[in-house]
Amino acid sequence: MTKPSYTALAASLPASVPFVSPDTQQRLRGEPYRARLGANENGFGPSPNAIKAMADAAPECWMYGDELSFALRQALAEKFHISLDNIVVGEGIDSLLGNLVRLLVEKDTPVVTSIGAYPTFNYHVAGFGGKLHAVPYKNDHEDLEGLAEIANKTAASLVYLANPDNPMGTWHTGTAIMEFVDQLPDGCLLCLDEAYIEFAPEGISPEIDVNDQRIIRFRTFSKAHGLAGARIGYGIAHTELISAFNKVRNHFGVNRIGQAAALAALADDEWLDQTIAKVTRAKAIIADIARDNGLTALPSASNFVAIDLGRDGEFSRKVVEYCDQKGIFIRRPFASPQDRCLRVSAGPDAELQLFAEVLPQALRAC
Ligand SMILES: Cc1ncc(COP(=O)(O)O)c(C=O)c1O
Repeated sequence: MTKPSYTALAASLPASVPFVSPDTQQRLRGEPYRARLGANENGFGPSPNAIKAMADAAPECWMYGDELSFALRQALAEKFHISLDNIVVGEGIDSLLGNLVRLLVEKDTPVVTSIGAYPTFNYHVAGFGGKLHAVPYKNDHEDLEGLAEIANKTAASLVYLANPDNPMGTWHTGTAIMEFVDQLPDGCLLCLDEAYIEFAPEGISPEIDVNDQRIIRFRTFSKAHGLAGARIGYGIAHTELISAFNKVRNHFGVNRIGQAAALAALADDEWLDQTIAKVTRAKAIIADIARDNGLTALPSASNFVAIDLGRDGEFSRKVVEYCDQKGIFIRRPFASPQDRCLRVSAGPDAELQLFAEVLPQALRAC
């Protein structure tokens, strides 16, 4: 029997997912989690208006979505005082990262990121044969100087930076980011992942001229808007780069229900403000839980908190595993030395209470 012949690149890649979903983990455990605090989802849920919009859109699902996401792009354009042509909508940032990498990266193209930063970006770079150069974190922050230095040394085409950062929740100011952009080599694009920006205080998101060809920023409805399962996010950049996405994107990938939900969520500032307040409160509770156990919570500008266990990655692995066995889903950073921490997402009180009960047991047992 004949077999398909894979490209040399595909044949060389491991079959992997950047990270295993809590749903898969639940299936493997054989029972649902009691607290789902590991994937930086938003347990406070989407706006009731978004839920209604999804319900209203459900019977219309026999129709494809609008391949231009016109209404949503129009609403985003109004919000940010930019042109529709500066905005691309896709199936979450994850999908847009894939499109961007496909546009800029081929075999051995140098690309720069941080060791232990968001892994889906690396997954896409590997998928297009790029050569990834990864820089260690510095004091639990993505190291802007180090990233610029390697970008220059390797003449990188693309640099990835999440601000606020995942997995540490740390951040740089918008001013520092623009100074960083000035340090990048000619022709190098900064992929600025702002998945968590709505949770960050003023001054973290840089003022960017959309005509600046050196940056693309990505945002999502998955986090602050509580629509991770609807798979919808967007990129903002120069019109030339945005129109290039039309060469590679899956034009009908964004689904009709997601479009309706995002449009309604974007219009509900009151719900967004309430969510941010709930997340702020939940982060304070997580910090209290850390303190009660003699641990330190890192300051976070995102919807999760990194708790420093003060030991090595093996210890945190055991703690995460213990929590998992007790039905508490949390995660930890992938790379050392950040993997000394736990990463706990903001969530409803009842779930945080369960974490508060299990954490001291886990620390004792491990
Ligand atoms: C830094 C970062 N970027 C992107 C994403 C994924 O965003 P989306 O759901 O829009 O694909 C996440 C999700 O955890 C993230 O942490």
